[in-house]
Amino acid sequence: MGERAYRVALIPGDGIGKEVVPAARLVIDAVGQRFQFASDWTDFDWSCELHARTGSMTGGRSIEELADQDAIFLGAIGYPGVPDHVSLWGLLIPIRRRFAQYVNLRPVRLLPGVRTPLADRGPEDIDFLIVRENNEGEYSEIGGRLYEGTPAELAVQQSVFTRVGVDRVMRYAFELARTRPAKHLTSATKSNGIIHTMPFWDERFQAMAAEYPDVRVDHFHIDILSAHLVQHPDWFDVIVASNLFGDILSDLGPAIAGSIGLAPGANLNPEREHPSMFEPVHGSAPDIAGQGIANPIAQILTGAMMLDHLGETAAAAAVVTAVERVLAAGEPRTGDLGGTATTEEMTVAVIAALA
Ligand code: NAD
Ligand code: IPM
Ligand code: MN
Repeated sequence: MGERAYRVALIPGDGIGKEVVPAARLVIDAVGQRFQFASDWTDFDWSCELHARTGSMTGGRSIEELADQDAIFLGAIGYPGVPDHVSLWGLLIPIRRRFAQYVNLRPVRLLPGVRTPLADRGPEDIDFLIVRENNEGEYSEIGGRLYEGTPAELAVQQSVFTRVGVDRVMRYAFELARTRPAKHLTSATKSNGIIHTMPFWDERFQAMAAEYPDVRVDHFHIDILSAHLVQHPDWFDVIVASNLFGDILSDLGPAIAGSIGLAPGANLNPEREHPSMFEPVHGSAPDIAGQGIANPIAQILTGAMMLDHLGETAAAAAVVTAVERVLAAGEPRTGDLGGTATTEEMTVAVIAALA
């Protein structure tokens, strides 16, 4: 019997990415042993550190090198010393676009044993999926600056919403909602203040809703949606949002579910024409980097999403169960969860819970 093997590009990136990616890799290798598959890792040192040495986030190499991988496993990009728009537009955002990873799927779930800052809320109240548009919208390089350094200075940034781009992410969200018990999809809009793109977003949402009569739909302007997420998290099942709104909601969600250190994510090319990229919601956390105290759970659960995507569904479920066991046990816990454990202690506990 030939062992299953997956080619995975490993990009730890910056800051705590360099700590949590190796930790999650240990977990994935351990579960691979148990479920008899191998991950064939290829290391890429693409990072701000490399930029400091070479003037390029990839050291002059091309992201085309990632094209033949089965998946990309990434930590975080961005570190003081390189402006964020240089590092992120030099690596993360080009990968998302080149490989048409137009869905950024970010599950938010309050796991048993984790404390939410919301009073009187439990795991049954906080369990939703954010489907963030990941290729266009407010994140666009169309625009420019004029009269720099003078009193007449100006900056223009053009949002781009295409019918293809909006429809494909909404279709993904409707199909996803269909697989959930509640079959409920909420659209994040702002068509009261944003006069062109957001009414278009609403129109496309309504048109598609007609094709999915079995999915119950809602829409809220992003301002009150943010408030509802805090006051009524149980109202949400699947949320579809534009690039920027989805970005903001996907930090708010983990905040109510206990910690951003627990929040996984996946940049998906649903057609599988290109590799998808698996990356947690959090960044490089320069404030705690280098101390060995970052919570590795977000990266580990991101690994579970990758295994699921690769078809290793039993292994993915085993990782999630192991994480749930560790969190339910109450210890070890990293600082973000109120404890004093290290990244390594947390990782060892998850691997032990796999057995
Ligand atoms: P951040 O997510 O890095 O950190 C926000 C806060 O959360 C910090 O206090 C940090 O210590 C804490 N935190 C994050 N992850 C944690 C973990 N696993 N365990 C414990 N605590 C954790 O956000 P930021 O400070 O806004 O950004 C820092 C850098 O990361 C910037 O350069 C930013 O552009 C970049 N960034 C990259 C990505 C990515 O590559 N996907 C995502 C977000 C931010
Ligand atoms: C994220 C991050 C990125 C984004 C930044 C670092 C460009 O915040 O993945 O959520 O906004 O997409
Ligand atoms: Mn973000």
